[in-house]
Amino acid sequence: MMEWKKKDLLTLEELSKEEIEFILETANSFKEVSTRDVKKVPTLRGKTIVNLFFEPSTRTRTSFELAAKRLSADVLDFSIGNSSVSKGESPVDTARNIEAMKVDCFIIRHPVAGIPKLIAKEVKAAVINAGDNSHEHPTQGLLDLFTIREKKGKIKGLKIAIVGDILHSRVARSNIWGLTKLGASVILCGPPTLIPLGIKHMGVEVTFSLEEAIKKADILYFLRMQKERQDEIFFPSTQEYVQLYGMDMENLKRGKRGLLIMHPGPINRGIEIKSEIADSPASLILEQVTNGIAVRMAVLYLLVGKRGKND
Ligand code: CP
Repeated sequence: MMEWKKKDLLTLEELSKEEIEFILETANSFKEVSTRDVKKVPTLRGKTIVNLFFEPSTRTRTSFELAAKRLSADVLDFSIGNSSVSKGESPVDTARNIEAMKVDCFIIRHPVAGIPKLIAKEVKAAVINAGDNSHEHPTQGLLDLFTIREKKGKIKGLKIAIVGDILHSRVARSNIWGLTKLGASVILCGPPTLIPLGIKHMGVEVTFSLEEAIKKADILYFLRMQKERQDEIFFPSTQEYVQLYGMDMENLKRGKRGLLIMHPGPINRGIEIKSEIADSPASLILEQVTNGIAVRMAVLYLLVGKRGKND
């Protein structure tokens, strides 16, 4: 049995195949807790978890809060709007001051890549990266791996096509690291302007044709068009993007038997996928959200519950 050694979870790049598999196995054992009448275990009783979100979130924030509460931890949901961040306090100072109140873990989302790592170096508490700009979103990657393994019974040998705005996507990066480490093939698909130059060095295939991706893939993973991170025009119009890269039922019929659809949310219905796809039996979107709780319970347990008194 592996012993968990890491203080923080900042990226999937820095995890080994064995560490990723260990988290997925641990998540498996926590999934059942959320199906109980009383959805609680005492694992993290007496521990304090702080949600430190400098950017909006629906899924990640609530999922971490529920995961922590189901482990019986106390949760502080730090609200930036009412804090001294608006008076110019730096993220590191904010974290160090909250840590002085004796907390055990920070879950950090920040619009600047690398801020969770910077804070992790400055605090003794565990730090979990909940998304730092276009860099990484490791627990999203883990819950996607968990969902794929649950539905397909394996990850090795599968072909996953990630479609859309790869350039601005932290989810794409975490998934590329996770999927390739676990032996899947990754195809990136989107307009040439939204696929970073040199990304093939991550061991992925690139296509600009959705039709080609659909024909090859076991799973199509769609990404949201991140207008808030696009400071220039990357394609002529939304209408043209939908025509070339939007997913509908006709496209689904051209894919392999059992082709599955994933998306990290939030979805733009009618842009990257039509409602007939998002709400179809092929869609795993809500199962991804459900599995997020088990995966985050596992991560919190390993980082907070397993740490020794002298760490
Ligand atoms: N998938 C995801 O990170 O969603 P939120 O932005 O709502 O947390």
